[in-house]
Amino acid sequence: MSIIALPTPQKLTYLTVEEAILLRRSIREFKRDPIKLTHISMILWAAYGITDPARGFRASPSAGATYPLELYLAIGEQGVHVLEDKYLESGVYKYIPSVHGLSEARRGDVRRSLMRAALNQKWIEDAPVSIVITAIYERTTRHYGERGRIRYVPIDVGHVGQNIYLMSTALGYGTVAIGAFRDSEVASIVGLKSDEVPIYIMPIGVPERVVTTSFNDLKLHIDRARQNLGIQF
Ligand SMILES: Cc1cc2nc3c(=O)[nH]c(=O)nc-3n(C[C@H](O)[C@H](O)[C@H](O)COP(=O)(O)O)c2cc1C
Repeated sequence: MSIIALPTPQKLTYLTVEEAILLRRSIREFKRDPIKLTHISMILWAAYGITDPARGFRASPSAGATYPLELYLAIGEQGVHVLEDKYLESGVYKYIPSVHGLSEARRGDVRRSLMRAALNQKWIEDAPVSIVITAIYERTTRHYGERGRIRYVPIDVGHVGQNIYLMSTALGYGTVAIGAFRDSEVASIVGLKSDEVPIYIMPIGVPERVVTTSFNDLKLHIDRARQNLGIQF
């Protein structure tokens, strides 16, 4: 199998967790800039990469460690910058956590088709890349039956989505979790087998505007709200 090896995970950011949580917003306007290979590598790792090599546990929790999700990276034309004038080929790639690599699923820029499948949400076409999170329910329902389908798999996806949001924020990118799309169209664009269902599309790029909320802004807001209710502080 031909695999593109991603740069191995490393400490890269200086934002604290509380700062990343404060600054996380759903971003729908992106600059044309590409994402760096080292950065998309960190975002994929934060989403579903290996964090406990001995047991194969991942960056996001999963019910019974069943790991029902797969992550695909849809890369646009010059969407991922490797170095100097080198970019990854546009196409759809599957993330392989065990080797922290990408396996090519199909060639070509699918951003416009993905956007159409997602009811013309244009931020999918504007962003240099999107992560498509899919679920193979059977991996979890085999152990937990219906509870696995209606509870555990959707909860697992939420954890992964939040890690993508926070890692993107910490690296200076923005993203938005998209749940509104036609499943069968997304499945055919990504090339999914019949047992695999798309759950989220998360376009990632450099935000057009930076988020400027501060802890001081929050304090002013909370103090005012308390004052209005006559709460002593
Ligand atoms: C399950 C789910 C589905 C969502 N689907 C979409 C979507 O299809 N398109 C979109 O622009 N935002 C979508 N969002 C993002 C929400 O609109 C956003 O989280 C909300 O407005 C709060 O803003 P914030 O994320 O900046 O805090 C979705 C969020 C969740 C959790």
